[in-house]
Amino acid sequence: MAELRLPPNSKILEGKMHVGLDAAKTPQKLKIYRYDPDTKENPKMDTYEIDRDQCGPMVLDALIKIKNELDSTLSFRRSCREGICGSCAMNIDGTNTLACIKPIDSIQGDIKIYPLPHMQVIKDLIPDMTHFYAQYESIQPWLKTDSPKPAGSEQLQSPEDREKLDGLYECILCACCSTSCPSYWWNSEKYLGPAVLLQAYRWIADSRDEYTGERLDDLEDPFKLYRCHTIMNCTKTCPKGLNPAKAISEIKKLMVQRQGA
Ligand code: SF4
Ligand code: SF4
Ligand code: FES
Repeated sequence: MAELRLPPNSKILEGKMHVGLDAAKTPQKLKIYRYDPDTKENPKMDTYEIDRDQCGPMVLDALIKIKNELDSTLSFRRSCREGICGSCAMNIDGTNTLACIKPIDSIQGDIKIYPLPHMQVIKDLIPDMTHFYAQYESIQPWLKTDSPKPAGSEQLQSPEDREKLDGLYECILCACCSTSCPSYWWNSEKYLGPAVLLQAYRWIADSRDEYTGERLDDLEDPFKLYRCHTIMNCTKTCPKGLNPAKAISEIKKLMVQRQGA
């Protein structure tokens, strides 16, 4: 029988406890994954205690408070603080979501925070997105046309055609869906995953794009598209309420339709 061994430094150990100088009236504990590849040490779960009454409403507010007041070495990404940039995606209380729109009050007890699952960790809560962005680039996410542009620089489409992009254009590429997908966990070298496939469909569905055939040709591959087994974790976790599984099934439908044409 094959024996699988994890690297010795892969086990997560108990880390440090960090408590503010003043006793908290409404204490809230956060247990946060810490990892610094430069130290060669095991990852650890540090515990931080903050005063809930002295903190903003979202998990990102708590992380910023910890970084400002308890531990400046804690590393995480953030920018917009309103669910638009996608940079604060992480695993909070067992679910991939955006820290800036996840209310602290929606979580019972201690708040456990990990980086997005099955990604290389650069430091603490910061995953390496290099491969994810390369996959995004591979689907050529821009309007491709050969026809001469109409007078003026705009390429118009009807309101009905524009509506077909609803539920697609809102994707902020946070990767919550792809990193919750078991097929992507095991095949991310070749499978594009739900986020990138939703983006691929966004351009396939655009009435102004003239490369639909080529885009479908590129996805006609046992791994890039067909590793989706409709497990639906992606749709369940999307913090923007989008449905990547449906976008994937629309691409598969188009593949079948063109075979029958
Ligand atoms: S529906 Fe497809 S893409 Fe979504 S989680 Fe399942 S296998 Fe992954
Ligand atoms: S589909 Fe949703 S979860 Fe996936 S990358 Fe886009 S916004 Fe994030
Ligand atoms: S900080 Fe931009 S989505 Fe959370």
